Parts: sequence; structure tokens; C-alpha cells
Amino acid sequence: MNKHTVLVTGGAGFIGSHACVELLQAGYGVVVVDNLVNSKAEALSRVERITGKTLPFYQADIRDKPALTEIFAKESIATVMHFAGLKAVGESCEQPLNYYHNNVYGTLVLLEAMRDANVKQMVFSSSATVYQPSATGEYSEDFPLGAINPYGRSKVIIEDILRDVSAVDKIKQNGAPWKIALLRYFNPIGAHECGMIGEDPNGIPNNLMPYVLQVAIGKLRQLSVFGNDYPTPDGTGIRDYIHVVDLVKGHIKAIEAIESDKFKAGGCHAYNLGTGKGYSVLDIVNTFEKVTGRKVNYQFAPRRTGDLAESFANPERAARELDWVAEKNLDDMITDAWNWQVKNPQGYVD
Ligand code: NAD
Ligand code: UFG
Repeated sequence: MNKHTVLVTGGAGFIGSHACVELLQAGYGVVVVDNLVNSKAEALSRVERITGKTLPFYQADIRDKPALTEIFAKESIATVMHFAGLKAVGESCEQPLNYYHNNVYGTLVLLEAMRDANVKQMVFSSSATVYQPSATGEYSEDFPLGAINPYGRSKVIIEDILRDVSAVDKIKQNGAPWKIALLRYFNPIGAHECGMIGEDPNGIPNNLMPYVLQVAIGKLRQLSVFGNDYPTPDGTGIRDYIHVVDLVKGHIKAIEAIESDKFKAGGCHAYNLGTGKGYSVLDIVNTFEKVTGRKVNYQFAPRRTGDLAESFANPERAARELDWVAEKNLDDMITDAWNWQVKNPQGYVD
């Protein structure tokens, strides 16, 4: 028998598709809404093949209130996992209005539809970029917020909205309270170990791991390592890379917590999802070469504007309150990412 049904916004995307697999395998019903602006429906067919289960898919924009209202009327939704959003930092600086409209306004419309349908449980995809730059590189959840680009600010604004929305019901005792988990991801990479779903970026990748994969497979000539003069042991930027399957397991734990006594009083609670360990760009290149036996051509290039020297999670709150820790190591992340790349050199072909 199914546990309750989860509406997954952005479910055809990189993280959303992995969440659909994990939810279906854990016995939840899954309904997806996605406008496919950065994904393909094929990802959802693969989710169905991996799990042997079907999922209703609505190709719709979360800013389309009538479409959302219809979904909530037709499907018996208990919780929303909200992945839908635009996520490229550089593009957000070029198109701030588009980012605020899609991410912030989209979330407002979704929240209104949830309120109207009396669905008050949400797991939200936030990001490590919500934090102010820290001198040590380590971030705990109570570190001050202060994003430095429109993408990050869209996440801070959404977090503020979610805190306000959940506070009202607490004050007014207005029926069942909102129960919201804000999950702040560090750097998700990797792919499902079967190699059928993974990250399929449009055009030239912005992020390190998909770029490395495309250099190793011969689609791109060489990696530019942005900066070798950071105050880090080898001079290159350090990040907390986390396997996407570990990350989505954190989402299942968040739903379990929302439904337990831990969230009895409702409210909005933030959790870092990271491993707590940092790896430099050169660590990634060297480990990639060791794990795959492929050479990654690279050259040093100037620092990328807006990049931090170092960023890694303090993941203790998620361990303590969600009973979640990341289990996979960097070798696993790279093995699975490479397996996906080799099996799908052109990404998803519809
Ligand atoms: P993705 O682009 O692969 O997935 C996002 C999905 O949302 C896509 O399928 C896209 O088509 C859909 N979408 C976008 N706008 C929509 C709209 N208005 N209506 C309906 N669907 C819409 O990205 P991802 O890497 O899977 O990221 C998922 C979420 O996690 C995003 O909110 C992102 O900001 C957040 N996040 C990602 C990272 C990362 O490094 N990948 C890090 C931190 C946070
Ligand atoms: N890097 C390179 N060359 C590249 C791409 C990246 O050297 O071609 C370096 C960057 O300078 C950085 C590291 O690799 O030091 C990681 O860069 P990514 O672009 O992969 O990731 P970011 O940490 O910059 O940002 C990512 C997502 C954001 C998210 C953030 C925190 O892109 O959306 O992680 O979760 F908010």
C-alpha cells in the first residue's frame, strides 16, 4: 500500500528525478509537475523503468495557478517537494527579473494553491548560496544569511516567505500548522548507480563535475580551473560535494521528520545537506583520473567572479534532528557520474 502522495515540482530535473526514484522505492505515491524548461520528459520514463512504478506527470508551469489548482483537486497530495526553479548563478545576474519571477513568484503561486487545497507540508530546495561568505568556509544553519547574486537572493527571499507563512498559523492557531523543511544543498554531483538518470545540462556546463565529464569523454577540449591563488592548500577552490542519492535520501528523512513529533508544533526548519568535507578542484581532477583511468586536460584560468575560496557544511543538525548523514564518498560520486556519462553521451534523447 502507498504511503501518502508527494507532489514533486521540478521532478524531471537532475535532483527531482532522483527524488522521484527514492520516493517511489520508499512506498510514496508521486505526482510530478514540471514545465521542462531545463529537463526532458524522458527522465520520468526512466524513473518509471527503474522503479517499475508509474507516476502522473503534468507538464505545467508552477506560475499557472489554474493548472496547480486542478492538480491539487485531482490528486490526493499530502506533501510538496519543491525543486522547480532556475539555478544558474551567472544567468541570474544577466536575467534577474526572470529569476525572481520564476523562483519567487512561482513559489508564491504554489503556496497559494497549497493553502487553498489545505496542503501545508513542504520540503524546499534551498542552497548553500543563501549564506553570507564566511571566513572559515564552514556554514552552520544559524550563520547569517546574505546571498551575493540574484539566484541566491531568490532562495533567501523564498526562505523568508516560508518562515512568514509558517509563523502566521503558529500565532493564530489556524488549524493544522504549516510544516516546512528548508534543505540547503552544498554541491550535488553523481548519478543513480544504474546509470539511467543523471545530470543533463543544456549547452556548455557551468558546473565543475559536468564540465569534467565532458572533457573526459572528448566533447570539450579542456577544463579551465578558475583560480590557483586561493588561500587553500593547493590554491584551487574547495567545495563540499555530495552524492545526489545521499541528498535525496535527506529529503525522505525530512518528510519522515515532518510527520513525526519533531514537527508537531509546525514551523520552518533549515538543514544543511552536505558531507562536511571539502575537496579542491585539483582533488576532483586527480580523483577523477584515478577512478576512471581517463585524463582530464586542464589549464589554470583567472578566478570566476563571485566564487568563494572555500565552502563546506556543518551537517550536524541534519544528523541530530533528521537522523541523516551522507554515506557515499568522492570515489562513489565520480564512479556513478562517469557511468551515467558513458551510458548517455548525449544526455537524454527524447
Ligand atoms: P534542474 O534544472 O535539473 O531541475 C529543476 C527543474 O525545475 C527542471 O526540470 C525545470 O524544467 C523545472 N522548472 C523550472 N522552473 C519551472 C517552473 N516555473 N515551473 C515548472 N517547472 C519548472 O535543477 P536541479 O539541479 O535538479 O535543482 C533542483 C533544485 O535544487 C532547484 O531549485 C535548485 O535551485 C536547487 N539547488 C540545486 C543545486 C545544484 O547544484 N544542482 C544546489 C543548490 C540548490
Ligand atoms: N570550477 C572550475 N571550472 C569550471 C567550473 C567550476 O574551476 O569550469 C570551480 C569553481 O571555481 C569552484 C568549483 O569548481 O571552485 C565548484 O564550482 P561549481 O560551479 O560546480 O559550483 P559552485 O560551488 O560555484 O555552485 C554550486 C551551484 C549553485 C549552488 C552552490 C551551492 O552551481 O547553484 O553550488 O550549493 F548554489
